[in-house]
Amino acid sequence: MSEEQKLADNRTRETTDELREFIRQGWADRHTGRPELALAAPYAAARRAALSARFRGDRLVIPAGGLKVRSNDCDYVFRPHTAFAYLTGLGADREPDAVLVLEPTPTGHEAILYFRPRAPRDSDEFFDSPRFGEFWVGARPSIDDIEAELGLTARHLDDVLDDVTKDAAATLVRVVRDADRALTADLDQRRTAEGRDAAATEEADDALAHTISLARMVKDEHEVAQMREAIEATRIGFEAVIRELSGLAEKERGERWIEGIFGLHARHQGNGVGYDSICAAGDHANTLHWIRNTGDVTEGDLVLLDAGVEVDSLYTADITRTLPVDGTFSDAQSEIYDAVYAAQQAGIDAVRPGATFSDIHAAAIRVIAEHLHAWGLLPEGIDVEATLDKEHGQYHRRWMVHGTSHHLGLDVHDCALASREEYREGTLAAGMILTVEPGLYFKADDQLAPQRFRGIGIRIEDDVLVTQDGHEVLSARMPRARPDVEAWIRAVQGAGSTGASGVSG
Ligand code: GLY
Ligand code: MN
Ligand code: MN
Repeated sequence: MSEEQKLADNRTRETTDELREFIRQGWADRHTGRPELALAAPYAAARRAALSARFRGDRLVIPAGGLKVRSNDCDYVFRPHTAFAYLTGLGADREPDAVLVLEPTPTGHEAILYFRPRAPRDSDEFFDSPRFGEFWVGARPSIDDIEAELGLTARHLDDVLDDVTKDAAATLVRVVRDADRALTADLDQRRTAEGRDAAATEEADDALAHTISLARMVKDEHEVAQMREAIEATRIGFEAVIRELSGLAEKERGERWIEGIFGLHARHQGNGVGYDSICAAGDHANTLHWIRNTGDVTEGDLVLLDAGVEVDSLYTADITRTLPVDGTFSDAQSEIYDAVYAAQQAGIDAVRPGATFSDIHAAAIRVIAEHLHAWGLLPEGIDVEATLDKEHGQYHRRWMVHGTSHHLGLDVHDCALASREEYREGTLAAGMILTVEPGLYFKADDQLAPQRFRGIGIRIEDDVLVTQDGHEVLSARMPRARPDVEAWIRAVQGAGSTGASGVSG
């Protein structure tokens, strides 16, 4: 008996044959118009063509993954696997259990999407399945709908396992293993039964996942456009938070209020947040992954907000602003802010095609090290070069432990399967999108930090596109220099009155 079957069934009600028959009848004809070809479809086709060229003759299986139980009969909101979203163009909550198969042909591959099409109103599923039935969760597309929307062949999910393994001895079948563990287990079993070596099969699978992850590093024009939308939506979310900043000191758990305001706008404009928002007031900013967000917001403190809207296509922004609650940075806050800003500017200046990914971090961290040295915080006898020494230095990391950049796209930490040579030691190329996000973090109980700095944590994070001749800061509409941030807060809080600073309504 499965875990799900072991649950006592306190939720369903007996259904009489009479009700079952009654509910099958009396529905108006469905609207029969076909969806238009999705904007993303030609781009997804080009991505599939590039993958096809790398794996001629192999059958490629890219599952969306299934619904995940939150508790009992309640599921989490579905999010398809990133490789599936990238190669189909489907986003939001589409389509649980679907599987994209690239079927080898003499000239390349045919794309076939196996999915659970809409069940007719006279099917048992329509009324009887709270998990999938249209009566409960809404209608799904038909086979024809999906073919029109995505410009590929679509088939019923029931056929996928047999179709994919029909000649697994002769045709190498590769699957993105982590997308749908149950399907992968079935495939493993069938591939082994066909005489395939388990270790070699897994290696072949991993090569597929790695190739897709790496392909995502250079964005096509549709992806860049989606990123612009995500960043613009994020700007609107930040401005909504700024509008409420001045009243937050009176509320308990002001950090949660910030999380809610940003989350409201993320959900309203897009699919949601691209990662849990870090809403860190005062000393909480020094806890790098502060997502508990239970703290109060106090006048005179800074609030570090690290948040990004994920649009419906699942591309996400990742932006941090550190904002003075009362609109003005204190002297000590200014000192640190300007150091972080200078480091960020150095990092951004290093973004150009032909530079290496690690050049960005090197440029930013040198500025951080210079400031720490000038403040007299590095140990006796340790200068900038000594702390930058990778073998015997690195003292500065007490105050900035994290990397300066990561790739950004469908995943907030994008292209995670790229190797160290391809990623950290890789060369920047036009079309890549990266964050540049240095910070300085002085914990309240850090006895090596100057008293005036203790309890202050500052990060500035922007999203930067590598262009043919340099870079474009995609988040440039969000002010980041200290006086500009103060002016931005004033303008947003006085809003309605000025459109000059790009303040949204
Ligand atoms: N918010 C996660 C990051 O900045 O990498
Ligand atoms: Mn971030
Ligand atoms: Mn980031």
